[in-house]
Amino acid sequence: MSQQTVNGDAFENLLREERRFPPSPDFAAAANVHEDIYAAAEDRTAFWADQARTRLTWSKDFEETLDWSDAPFAKWFVGGKVNAAYNALDRHVENGLGDRVAIHFEGEPGDTETITYADLTERVKRAANAFESLGVQEGDRVAVYLPMIPEAVVTMLACARIGAVHSVVFGGFSADALRSRIDDAEAKLVVTADGTYRRGKPSSLKPAVDDALAEPGHTVEHVVVVRRNGQDIAWTEGRDLHWTELLDAASPEHTAVGHDSEHPLFILYTSGTTGKPKGILHTTGGYLTQTAYTHSVVFDLKPESDVYWCTADIGWVTGHSYITYAPLINGATQVMYEGTPDSPHQGRWWEIVEKYKVSILYTAPTAIRTMMKWGSDIPAKYDLSSIRLLGSVGEPINPEAWMWYREVIGGSGGKAEPAPIVDTWWQTETGAIMIAPLPGVTATKPGSAQVPIPGIAVDVVDESGNSVPNGHGGFLVIREPWPAMLRTIWGDPERYKDTYWSRFDGMYFAGDGAKKDDDGDIWLLGRVDDVMNVSGHRLSTTEIESALVSHEWVAEAAVVGAADPTTGQAVVAFVILRGEAEIPDGEDASAALRAHVGKEIGPIAKPKHVLVVPELPKTRSGKIMRRLLKDVAEGRDPGDATTLADPSVMQQIAADLRK
Ligand code: PRX
Repeated sequence: MSQQTVNGDAFENLLREERRFPPSPDFAAAANVHEDIYAAAEDRTAFWADQARTRLTWSKDFEETLDWSDAPFAKWFVGGKVNAAYNALDRHVENGLGDRVAIHFEGEPGDTETITYADLTERVKRAANAFESLGVQEGDRVAVYLPMIPEAVVTMLACARIGAVHSVVFGGFSADALRSRIDDAEAKLVVTADGTYRRGKPSSLKPAVDDALAEPGHTVEHVVVVRRNGQDIAWTEGRDLHWTELLDAASPEHTAVGHDSEHPLFILYTSGTTGKPKGILHTTGGYLTQTAYTHSVVFDLKPESDVYWCTADIGWVTGHSYITYAPLINGATQVMYEGTPDSPHQGRWWEIVEKYKVSILYTAPTAIRTMMKWGSDIPAKYDLSSIRLLGSVGEPINPEAWMWYREVIGGSGGKAEPAPIVDTWWQTETGAIMIAPLPGVTATKPGSAQVPIPGIAVDVVDESGNSVPNGHGGFLVIREPWPAMLRTIWGDPERYKDTYWSRFDGMYFAGDGAKKDDDGDIWLLGRVDDVMNVSGHRLSTTEIESALVSHEWVAEAAVVGAADPTTGQAVVAFVILRGEAEIPDGEDASAALRAHVGKEIGPIAKPKHVLVVPELPKTRSGKIMRRLLKDVAEGRDPGDATTLADPSVMQQIAADLRK
């Protein structure tokens, strides 16, 4: 463990944070839940059983709430049958809500589409029939490599409807990364698009699928292609099929049957501490229950009047839980936006908020810090008075960004009381929000996610697994199983046990450092393992190091996540070149290596800096001292280097850096 130790100094500063923002009396009075929910959730099993029955429509009721007899392999709502798509769609139409808008789609070029629950239901039924006609059956895996367009939601729900397991791969991942995920899940079908738009220009996706499938040995039978930007694309007859043709030919009638509560719903790959991404497996009943519940209590969703917008990409867990599943299960009206925040201008997000009267906005600290940098005068040009709740996710939010979010976004439009902020801590693995204030109940503190949501048992423990007293820090753990927990790592149950359940006996180890303040509120302090968090995206140091050493010039590489004022952390790589490396004249080795990482993993993994160094700092036993590299990458004096085999290495690196 741990080149990134829990940062005590930063925490001491946070602890001096004394601002408290209690909910306004009006907000509290109208809130979906009140203080008494914490007491109601004390009998955890009964509480979750109640949530499952009130939030979802089951085609067969469950017999047992939790089977933990084979821990850490959990079964929730045992014996129950439920269909995710029926819950997200058909039942709303049956309840007379077919005309309610499900999705306001805003394309980057400015094209829009308004999709009602009735429309979306029909599209999903057609897609379900189309996928079945291609031989996709219950349990088969479908890889989804799509931009932020409604077809992504349609595809995921169509898979869920027929019991196929979707594996969404973020469009920013490379062909190689896509292929390894297709292979690991043995996907039968790929759903993709010709491309999308990025900063006003068409950008492509289908060529990456063609590259990924170029070498034989994969399990893919068909590729369904959505036409989004009309670019010329290569076409493999027999394998490639047009989305529109398929759906037009498919029947709009399809009956959803209930799937077992523990039926796999999706696999989502995420970075761990080793080079190989982990396929996090989520199943149906528990996942849907906790996502729907949290979406209602943490965002205080009023489905009949709110307009909700989560800015995440569908390729990440936030997009799965809080775009595709929870909002639709709860019958919400939501905005879906395809593009970047600065296209065609830096006010695009606020223009969207004004246009659709967004009332609940859920985004990441990186975006907030970026907008802060662009200046408060940009959001000030728009009418943001519709906003009544703000959410944050993905990384720790610093108090300065929190206050800006509150005052400039939440307080805009001359509101007497700015909108409450909910800082939500969770992970791909947890499936749904775990730690967050409740907006009508909790007095919020800038920078702290504060309290486990009702029904969840979170703690901070020391090295030996003992709960730390208030005012102390340690490792974040989850003490009891929870409904939306991952069930395993796809194809690797041992790795599931080792990664999450072996560090502390009987507790889930999240990989995050945390502290409890004097009130017992939780402050998240970042990862304590070799996982970096760049703009809220999880990246593995090992995976990037492997990508670098796969380049013929590179002998050795060490990667660290250095603190960055905008992206939270930035990837900084130190490489030693091979003696025989033949670098063409005029070629910039650092730039070439950055591009190489982009090709191997994807543009999101490109290091901000690649520094060519003569040596890496190593202990006498040969272990790379990443802590010292992090110090220099963050501009600090690396201090004590006496444990190094060659203490002069750090001076050399620091001197090179200054040059
Ligand atoms: O380090 C924590 C950080 O993001 C990690 C999970 O990343 P991922 O699985 O990609 O899911 C991100 C979206 C749910 C965590 O281990 N993290 C997430 N939310 C917060 C956070 N750190 C601090 N505060 C948060 N609110």
